[in-house]
Amino acid sequence: MTETDFIPSAYSKTLENGKVTWESPSNIALVKYWGKKENQIPANPSISFTLNNCKTITELSYRTKVSDTDFSFEVYLDGEKKDDFKPKIETFLKRIHVYLPFLKNYHFKIETTNTFPHSSGIASSASGMSALALCFMSTEKQLNPEMTTNYFNQKASFLARLGSGSACRSLEGDIIVWGQTDAISGSSDLYGTKYPYQVHENFKEYQDTILLVDKGEKQVSSTVGHNLMHAHPYAENRFKQAHENLEKLKPILESGDLNKFIALMESEALTLHAMMMTSMPYFILMKPNTLEIINKIWSFRESTGLHIGFTLDAGANVHVLYPKKEAKVILDFIKNELVAYCQNEQYICDQIGFGANQL
Ligand code: PMV
Repeated sequence: MTETDFIPSAYSKTLENGKVTWESPSNIALVKYWGKKENQIPANPSISFTLNNCKTITELSYRTKVSDTDFSFEVYLDGEKKDDFKPKIETFLKRIHVYLPFLKNYHFKIETTNTFPHSSGIASSASGMSALALCFMSTEKQLNPEMTTNYFNQKASFLARLGSGSACRSLEGDIIVWGQTDAISGSSDLYGTKYPYQVHENFKEYQDTILLVDKGEKQVSSTVGHNLMHAHPYAENRFKQAHENLEKLKPILESGDLNKFIALMESEALTLHAMMMTSMPYFILMKPNTLEIINKIWSFRESTGLHIGFTLDAGANVHVLYPKKEAKVILDFIKNELVAYCQNEQYICDQIGFGANQL
């Protein structure tokens, strides 16, 4: 598929008004996307676990309008009008208009809510942008009912990517690849694809407990961070390493080797933050409690031999990942030893999930 394959020809139906609702989850990358080219093309491939409980639910209502010169929409979060969300959505609409030419013919009401606490430091852009992209695709499907499921899914992921890169990995589950790499057949820079190879039982219902270390606004946004990879002294090696890590992950996922899995995942997390620390200007998103938690995880793992590991996204929160069969002991450890390092002792229990649903 190329970009132009997502530009529709004339629609077979007309629509006056209607409403669609989707819920879409967040995801956590194992091999991280950090650095992008123009038009939200990733500088390196990434792979993620889709989450199950951290979700955005978005209802999109639409009605035809007379003038088709501008976008017209209103946004609500938890029932409250959110005009400060409008610029980001306006940018998204401008980017996707060529692929959804009906957008200027309707007035949209976007009503959204998250299952996780707002400003928890958990990025809502992956779940939020994927839910919105799916709502727009459901609208397009009503205008063009002949659309195949495969096209619907690819285009929804393609559109979500234009809202927020990692959002394209949230629509399906349970393991998604984004970014062209020889390591994964069918992988694309334009949309996420399901991981196509065998995955060991050990990864079924894999647990992710998210420790909310810092719920404040990030000092440096992901957009700025991605851009700092352009003149970065280690960028080329990092991009190469991401391809290699995807190749290394294949036998790990197949054999269920949890020690190797944890080593690769933790190395990826620290490499992501090392890229931030070695950017110019440099920055640090981890907090002292992030490091306290990492050290506690390491000594607990050393003393028990249990398969507890961590990853980080672009922030201070720690995702603690572990297999379902070790969940009881590890969750006790988290509650007794790690939660004290969280802001207001807040944490979220999640696990690997299977993607978005229409409601
Ligand atoms: O999708 P963005 O632009 O918010 O970037 C997300 C980048 C990381 O979360 C740090 C890594 C990833 O692959 O999700």
